[in-house]
This record gives sequence, structure tokens and C-alpha cells, in this order.
Amino acid sequence: MQLIEKAGEMQKISEELRTAGKTIGFVPTMGFLHSGHLSLVDAARERCNTVIVSIYVNPTQFSPSEDFKQYPKDMERDLKLCKGHGTDFVFVPDDMEMYPNGFETEVKPGNIAADLEGRFRPTHFQGVATIVAKLFNIVKPHIAFFGQKDFQQSLVVKRMAQDLNFDLEIEVCPIVREPDGLAMSSRNTYLSAEERKAALVLYKAIQLAKEMVAKDERNAAAIEEKLHNFISAEKRAKIDYIAVRDCNNLKRIEKIEEGKAVLLLAVRIGKTRLIDNELLGEEK
Ligand code: PAJ
Repeated sequence: MQLIEKAGEMQKISEELRTAGKTIGFVPTMGFLHSGHLSLVDAARERCNTVIVSIYVNPTQFSPSEDFKQYPKDMERDLKLCKGHGTDFVFVPDDMEMYPNGFETEVKPGNIAADLEGRFRPTHFQGVATIVAKLFNIVKPHIAFFGQKDFQQSLVVKRMAQDLNFDLEIEVCPIVREPDGLAMSSRNTYLSAEERKAALVLYKAIQLAKEMVAKDERNAAAIEEKLHNFISAEKRAKIDYIAVRDCNNLKRIEKIEEGKAVLLLAVRIGKTRLIDNELLGEEK
């Protein structure tokens, strides 16, 4: 496994790999890797002959009030995990490499980024789209792997790739959860023992929604209301949003139709903001 710090060097290697006929699988991350990230690396390993992982905590996707400065880091451990999962190259640029003096061009996503996460983190997806576009141009992947955990992000990235003619495939991989159901996240380390227990309310709410749908509830607002009451009963939880939406464009829906709806949750437990989601009304 090779560590690359410079964008120019990474680009040169990727170009050579492509010329040699290799299929490049790419997993962009912000590090502090867990089994969710590693499931993407494994998926890339399975489908591609070369696996490139990037580790970069991208400042432009954090607002000033967010956790950029305290975002957890453990590069040594991350590199061991990457190596253990068959990564060929790890791209680890620094801020000057990604945003050198004079940098001023950004990618601005449209409606897909405006609501939900976009409403609570207004500049977030512009930062994500910009860094992902840059990474795509540097790593030149054939297939890029993203997690369903960040459902809206995966739609923003797909939309961007299509709109800006990136010549690659986006594969979205399932959410990896802790044994008790909490979706894995680098931010889970912020939770105290009590908060960790309270955080399970997101997964329990998802189960409740699935039970309602299994009992033929098809009304999106009825599910949202029931989940609102359920999550509000957890005193440590503060709801940002609970939304049942069209899973292709995140537009509001009245009725859940088969294979077309997604439940999206954003809940703050103490100071930690957690998100989770689940497709609803899929064929049984
Ligand atoms: P990060 O939060 O490190 O996540 C990197 C990738 O891992 C994302 O595609 C995310 O959806 C996926 N992931 C995280 N937790 C997961 C889980 N429990 N199960 C499955 N996949 C999971 O998302 C980002 O970084 C950044 O926004 C990035 C795309 C790297 C741009 O800076």
C-alpha cells in the first residue's frame, strides 16, 4: 500500500493505472475509519483491480459552529485498516494541497441539496460537492463507492456526476450498524454512555416505521407524526427532522408507494448530531 500526499502525483498514478487497463475503485472518507467505511473498501476490492481510499477532513463542508476542529483522527490506525482490507493507495492531502492560495471555484448543488440536511447545514453540500468533484478529478475512478448512511449526500453526488458529466459509476452500499442497531459513524465517539443508550432511539424509530408500513400504513404524515411522538419521548433527543420522502429526488410525498420512499432522520443527542435512514415499502 502506498501513501500519496500530492494531488499531482495521485493524478499521474491514476492516469498510468487507467492506461494499463486497471479498473479504479475509489472510497472517499474523512478518516477515523469504522466497519461502515471498510464495507465500502471491501466492495471496491471486490469489483475493481485497484482500490484507492482518500482520507481528508474537508473544512469547507463544516460550518463555523460545527465540529471541524474536534473531528476525531487516528491516521496510524486508519492506515492499518486500509492495508488490512487490501487498499492499494491512500490519498492523504493537506489543506494547502486541496485549497491552495487563490482557490475560489466551487460546485453548487441544486434542489436536491436544499432541504433536510441542507436546511440545517446550509453550506454543507456545496463543500461536499466541491471536494468530491476535486477528488474525482484527482483519483480518476471508474467506480466511486458511497454509503447509504448519508442518503442525501449520495443523491447529491449522483446528481453532480450526471450534471457535470463525470465519466464514472457511483455505487451506494448499505448502512453498517452496531450489533444493537445504531448506524456506525465516526461521530458516535462523542456520545457519553448515557447518550449512547439514548441514541438507539433512531434505530427504534426506524423499526417502528417499518412495522407501521408492514401493517399497511401508507400515509407519510401519519408515520412522521408517530415517529415524532416516539422520539420526543426520549428526553436527550432533539429532533432536527423526521421525513418520509421520494427516495429518488427527496420530494415530499403523501403516500408510500412500493420501492419509492425513504425515511430520513436527523436527531441531536446532547451535542452530537446523528442521522439515519431506511427505505420504506420495499417488496417483501
Ligand atoms: P465520511 O463521513 O468519513 O464517510 C465516508 C463514506 O463512508 C461515505 O460515503 C459514508 O456514507 C460512508 N459511511 C459512513 N458511515 C457508514 C455506515 N455506517 N455504513 C455504510 N457507509 C457508511 O461522507 C464523508 O465522509 C464526506 O462527506 C466525504 C464524502 C468524504 C467528502 O468529504
